[in-house]
Amino acid sequence: MTSYTLLPHDLNPQALPKHVAVIMDGNGRWANQRGLPRIAGHRQGAKVLKSLLRCCKDWGIGALTAYAFSTENWRRPTSEVDFLMLLFEKMLRQELKEMHKEGVRIRFIGDLSGLSSSLQKEIARAMHETAGNTAVDFNIAVNYGSRNEIVHACQQVARKVEKGEIVSADVSEALISEHLYTAGCDPDLLIRTSGEQRLSNFLLWQLAYTEMYFTNAFWPDFDSGEFHRALQTFQARDRRFGNAADTVAVTEKVAIKQAALTA
Ligand code: IPE
Ligand code: IPE
Ligand code: MG
Repeated sequence: MTSYTLLPHDLNPQALPKHVAVIMDGNGRWANQRGLPRIAGHRQGAKVLKSLLRCCKDWGIGALTAYAFSTENWRRPTSEVDFLMLLFEKMLRQELKEMHKEGVRIRFIGDLSGLSSSLQKEIARAMHETAGNTAVDFNIAVNYGSRNEIVHACQQVARKVEKGEIVSADVSEALISEHLYTAGCDPDLLIRTSGEQRLSNFLLWQLAYTEMYFTNAFWPDFDSGEFHRALQTFQARDRRFGNAADTVAVTEKVAIKQAALTA
């Protein structure tokens, strides 16, 4: 990891998102703009992810989930797919020791059975070695598709019903959440880079009440300053979860108080 960074003064440490999710998009366009091959963008993107993890840990954000490869990304040219798979493996080998030392708990989410056996081995090792760490949860979505994840969760729940462990009336939102790869931990903030404003099959269930932040910056340019801006925006939002707006609540409180005083 890079050197320690301090939480910017204008951010309220009590009101930070507990869980940030990122759709790391724009690596190819970043490279293209520089006359470089797309893989150069992916290489730079991996460095940026490492710095973001550093920020999360230093600033007290407990979980980071990054979309690294979707179930749809297999449609790309084989050479790019192969490069990405090797990059994931290389990064794991290279960074595992330091991440472990920093207290990072690494988890991969997605259909891991579709990955090469050597990558599966590195993933299993990283997850096993860091399972007891508590400083920051780092989830990497590889061969991840949200619809696929929901189908997988439903199959597991259906199996439990078949075995008679539960009855259909036991199927609840909480039970489905528990069977998702993220196991009930929903992001507070979703960031997507590169100007695209879509989810591309990422965490469809988990993002039900997540704040969304879109920036035109390409992922390889998403530095701590960009993250700072995303957090400023997040802290200026009013998360209502279906409640009445805060302003309405305040006006109501004032009216009730005045009514009580004049009574
Ligand atoms: C995101 O960057 C990385 C992955 C999807 C693996 P892209 O490769 O999608 O970059 P653009 O969108 O083509 O610029
Ligand atoms: C989403 O980016 C997937 C990842 C960032 C891993 P894409 O570049 O694949 O998404 P689309 O195809 O533009 O929607
Ligand atoms: Mg893209």
